[in-house]
Amino acid sequence: MTKKTLGPQTMLYPMPALLIGADVDGKPNFMAASWSGIACTEPPMLTVAFQPQRHTLKGVKKNRTFSVNIPSVAQMKETDYTGIFSGSKEPDKTAIAGFEVFYGATNGAPMIAQCPVNLECTVVITLELGSHDLIVGQIREVHASEDVLDADGKVDPAKVDPLIFTVPDRSYRRMGEVVGKAFKVGAELKKG
Ligand SMILES: Cc1cc2nc3c(=O)[nH]c(=O)nc-3n(C[C@H](O)[C@H](O)[C@H](O)COP(=O)(O)O)c2cc1C
Repeated sequence: MTKKTLGPQTMLYPMPALLIGADVDGKPNFMAASWSGIACTEPPMLTVAFQPQRHTLKGVKKNRTFSVNIPSVAQMKETDYTGIFSGSKEPDKTAIAGFEVFYGATNGAPMIAQCPVNLECTVVITLELGSHDLIVGQIREVHASEDVLDADGKVDPAKVDPLIFTVPDRSYRRMGEVVGKAFKVGAELKKG
C-alpha cells in the first residue's frame, strides 16, 4: 500500500464535540471543545486542551472546577455557537444558546440540562504545552438524563446520539451503527 506523508498535525479522530462549562466572573460560561479524552480509570480522569485566552479557562483556573457536557446532535447549533463566540465579548452567550443551567456539588461547574450526560470535574494538573494548556480533571460526579438510560440504568450511547467532530473537513457527524463487540470480536483471530 502506498502512503503519503501529511506532516505532523492533530490528525486524530473522530473527536467528541463537547461543551465545557465554568463560572467566570460569577456567570456560567460554556465553550465547545474537541481536544479532549479519557486519561485514567481509577481515579476517573479526563483531559481538555484549552487555548490560554479562552474565557472559560479563566473560570477553570480560578475555581479549579469545570463541567464537561456531552451534547446530542440535537444541540449541534448551540454547541457550534459557543465555539464561534467568546464569553469575553458575548456576555449573554449562555442565554442566547438557551441553556438551562444546573449545579451539582462542585462549586463553579455549571452544567447544561439539555445535554444528556454531564461530568463534574475538579482540576488535578495543568500542563502548559504550547498553543494549548492541558487540564487534567478528576471526574467527581456524572449526571445522566433518565431518557438516555437503558433498562439496567446504564447510559445507552444510541439514545445519547453524541455529536462528533471531524477534521480536516471541520464537520459534525452522527455516530454510526454497532459493527462488533469490543474485547470479543478480536478473539476470533486466535486459532485453536
Ligand atoms: C467543534 C469545536 C471544537 C473546539 N475545540 C476547542 C478545544 O478543544 N480547545 C479550545 O481551546 N478551543 C476549542 N474550540 C474553540 C472555542 O470553543 C472558541 O474559541 C470559543 O469561542 C471559546 O469560548 P470562550 O472564550 O467563551 O471560552 C472549538 C470550537 C469548535 C467549534
